[in-house]
Amino acid sequence: MVELTIRAAALRAAIRIAQGAMWRGQFDTLKVSEHFPGEIVQTAMQERLIRPARNILGSLRLPGDKSISHRYAMLSGFAEGVSRFTNFSTGADCASTLSSMEALGAKVNRTSADSVEITGVAGRVGLASDSRDWALDCGNSGSTMRMISGLLAPQEGRFTLTGDASLSRRPMERIRKPLAAMGARLTLTDGHAPLTIDGGALKAIDYTTPVPSAQVKSCVLLAGLQTAGTTTVREAVRTRDHSELALRAFGATVVRTADSVSISGPQQLHSIDAAIPGDLSSAAFFLCAALLFPGSNLVIDALGLNPTRASLLDVLTALGAQIAVLNLEEIHAELVGTVQISAPEEGLGSTEISGSLAAQLIDELPVLAAIAPYTSGGIRIRGAHELRVKESDRIALVAKNLRAMGAEVEEFEDGLDVPGGQELHGATIDSGGDHRIAMAFSVAALRAEGETLIQGAESAAISFPEFFDLLDSVAER
Ligand code: S3P
Repeated sequence: MVELTIRAAALRAAIRIAQGAMWRGQFDTLKVSEHFPGEIVQTAMQERLIRPARNILGSLRLPGDKSISHRYAMLSGFAEGVSRFTNFSTGADCASTLSSMEALGAKVNRTSADSVEITGVAGRVGLASDSRDWALDCGNSGSTMRMISGLLAPQEGRFTLTGDASLSRRPMERIRKPLAAMGARLTLTDGHAPLTIDGGALKAIDYTTPVPSAQVKSCVLLAGLQTAGTTTVREAVRTRDHSELALRAFGATVVRTADSVSISGPQQLHSIDAAIPGDLSSAAFFLCAALLFPGSNLVIDALGLNPTRASLLDVLTALGAQIAVLNLEEIHAELVGTVQISAPEEGLGSTEISGSLAAQLIDELPVLAAIAPYTSGGIRIRGAHELRVKESDRIALVAKNLRAMGAEVEEFEDGLDVPGGQELHGATIDSGGDHRIAMAFSVAALRAEGETLIQGAESAAISFPEFFDLLDSVAER
């Protein structure tokens, strides 16, 4: 076995090597402590009290990637045959996709908390049903609503998609437009859900996405999969490519160039078995927590390291993190590996995140902003207007909650300036029912003076129900 320890800045090179030939490394310098007794106290159903920590130490394996779980659930539910997944996301969002696929005729058998067996409808939803009228509840999940719309638009039937209050505020015109260009009849309610699709045969298009969005790209590809001719999606910023990889894993032919993806339909998908990699966006909370404490040492195994998601490691390295990546392998073309992180003794530096980096890091920006006061030079975020139309207005809520903890912060339409060198104090945090805000400020609370109360803490279960228990297990007090 080759022994390799690399800094994240070298990750891209390592990934290139890994994609050419299997690349495995191992480091033996690691000291991993045991789990620590619980210190995070649940005070009420909706609230969590977070006490400061002295260090972050330990090793973790995280629940399955949310983006991959959504896609595998949709594609297996649509494919022919029985697919089996382990480490499937335990979050409520992916449960919304599973229940939607079940309502459409797929058989979904949860064999354990994180394993699922899905029998697909072999390319035709609702065959076993007399109904031609389906109502699907997408809960809080934008991914479910936007991607499943592409799957359903070419299918015969009427589909009404609803969501919770947050999802009903999120922009859906971005999927209506390309689907309408393909000839789909999709009706929105004032630009939002509820939305109704009167499905039927579509025509192939060549579409350039106006905002960087993997959900929109995936929506068009799922419609293209079932449509005669070649459908192409072009994007200025390469967004996460899980759909492209997943479609290939399920047997479809997908053609890629540097800035486009094409699919020629119709194509039939076939079932697969897969172990789903840990979620790098969930890992971000733990990686950032570890950065707050010189002397920290955290290992995360079996983590998804898809290059279109992994620029987080470059940003953490720019802040001074010591990161080692090893045991790289590919599972259905998704890169998976072990990440070890420790914080620099001299403290964290500063960084700027803008342009394509902001788009690729969109889910990690709240936690990066939440730890920015503890850096020496601060973090500047621009080009992240999309943050305003996530599960909450994440720019406004990050600014509000940082101020509640005593930080100075400047808010911009498309970002934030968070100066470094600031001490925070415990406060009551308004998560706005947004999972990533609840988790980001639980991390900021670990270095604050005094206790922090996270309101709406139950929202963490949207993507990561195990979050508080796992944080508790690595936080030394
Ligand atoms: C996702 C894409 C991103 C991301 C979301 C998951 C996906 O959304 O924020 O959490 O799985 O494709 P957008 O497509 O709106 O950028």
